[in-house]
Amino acid sequence: VRGYRPDPVPETVMAAAVAAAQSAATSSNLQTWSVVTVTEPARKARLAALSAQQRHIEEAPLLMVWLADLSRLRRLGRRVERPTEGLDYFETFLTAAIDAALAAQNAAVALEAMGWGTCYIGAMRSYPDAVAAELALPPECFAVFGLTVGRPAPGAEGEIKPRLPQSAVWHREAWAEEDPADIAAYDRAMAAFNAGQGLAAADWTDRAMSRVAGPKALSNRDKLKAYLEKLGFALK
Ligand SMILES: Cc1cc2nc3c(=O)[nH]c(=O)nc-3n(C[C@H](O)[C@H](O)[C@H](O)COP(=O)(O)O)c2cc1C
Repeated sequence: VRGYRPDPVPETVMAAAVAAAQSAATSSNLQTWSVVTVTEPARKARLAALSAQQRHIEEAPLLMVWLADLSRLRRLGRRVERPTEGLDYFETFLTAAIDAALAAQNAAVALEAMGWGTCYIGAMRSYPDAVAAELALPPECFAVFGLTVGRPAPGAEGEIKPRLPQSAVWHREAWAEEDPADIAAYDRAMAAFNAGQGLAAADWTDRAMSRVAGPKALSNRDKLKAYLEKLGFALK
């Protein structure tokens, strides 16, 4: 959903979303994620400016920013005077990013089940240092993505977007290359879907290839590794 009514998201709904998020599986029960809820219009506007100026970030009454947060375990280690060198490895960063994604998706499903619309905001990774400053994040805490939340505006309820055929993603016993005919069929389905949405009838192949063409298409996220190091992640 990328168009929202202004109705605020009640505190009880936010609490239910966080409860759903905390119910997700988490690697070794380390719970290496956190979330910041942003409702203040000026702060949402500043975060939208850092996220390709996507209009629905300002429009949504709530922006949830999902964090890979190793800082909690680092502080704990200092407090109890135990070593925490394991946090310095890329594996632990990946664990935190996976934890954040699982938590967020649980929240998204719960919110949608309660009639709220959501949209992930990967563009929030374009300027991670500025996002960290805006949200007062400590070192080793990274905004993996945002999630806009609100009641869908009339006409913006969204439709179910077709996916690749199962045969393209489902491998039995071992991986096998997809049949190009499956991709061609999906291109036709996506072109028809996009046309129905009033969008250019570009097929999936064309859009996907544009998105992975080179570093420019990553909208500054080609520099992510350097940003993460700046945020204090050792990524060994
Ligand atoms: C991690 C992640 C980041 C995303 N970032 C954006 C974004 O910045 N802006 C946006 O409008 N949609 C974003 N999306 C939404 C995807 O475009 C959308 O999920 C995909 O096109 C499939 O459509 P559907 O979710 O409606 O089925 C993101 C999705 C994910 C999972």
